[in-house]
Amino acid sequence: MPLLETLRAARHVAVLTGAGISVESGLSTFRSPQSGLWERFDAEELATPRGFKSNPALVWGWYEWRRMQALRAVPNEGHLALKRLAEKVPQLTLITQNVDDLHERAGSAEVLHLHGSLHQPMCNACRQSRPLPPGIPDEPEGGRAVEPPRCGHCGGRIRPGVVWFGEKLPQKEWTLAKRAALACDLFLSVGTSSVVEPAASLTLLAAQRRVTTVQVNPNETQAQYLFSYDLRGPAGVILPALLNQAW
Ligand code: OAD
Repeated sequence: MPLLETLRAARHVAVLTGAGISVESGLSTFRSPQSGLWERFDAEELATPRGFKSNPALVWGWYEWRRMQALRAVPNEGHLALKRLAEKVPQLTLITQNVDDLHERAGSAEVLHLHGSLHQPMCNACRQSRPLPPGIPDEPEGGRAVEPPRCGHCGGRIRPGVVWFGEKLPQKEWTLAKRAALACDLFLSVGTSSVVEPAASLTLLAAQRRVTTVQVNPNETQAQYLFSYDLRGPAGVILPALLNQAW
């Protein structure tokens, strides 16, 4: 069945998004040549528990810089199209690796954030989530070193509410994401390089069930072979076009 018909007939669509969907909102990916965050900054220093322990101010300042960028960004046509898609199909599970809140601000409900959120810091000691600190409005590229606030409850350091390398995904979100990959009749992967596990394995779960899998990305990825359809181009162009053709 051609893609448009499959989409129209789908009863449960699972969507996995990555940093690429927020590019047209002005946010960086992680691995794009030159512009990717991990091309310009050291992931070991900034995205591991070890990095936070050895230099909490550097890490906190960097995520504050990213949080301010995310707050200034607005959802783009790609985010909006996914919100619209949820209104067209009986069930849609939106799973994101992104730590921004652009899906929510586009109107999508119940977004499964596999990698946490820039907007929900938590205590590094007692793990309770903490109210957002005021933020630093005029930060330089990469942020500046800022001592993280202290937890009002136990005195521990507040840390960014994101998942770092070597840490487990939030259990509830991961369980629901896997369940969707195992139940959907169409799996859509948007703006992700599909290199970070276990998120990337969701595509494999769906592909093994031989349901239709669709990739939206301007570039080839290492998961290329898992997709029934490879729609090359920016999410903000491809997704609205797909919806407009289907309905
Ligand atoms: P990557 O930077 O690895 O991949 C971004 C993908 O977006 C690439 O395949 C690009 O080709 C694609 N892309 C670029 N512009 C696009 C556009 N306009 N529309 C659609 N796609 C576009 O980012 P992720 O796959 O999200 O983890 O990275 C996964 C995880 O690695 C992140 O969640 C983060 C990082 O370490 C944590 O922070 C825990």
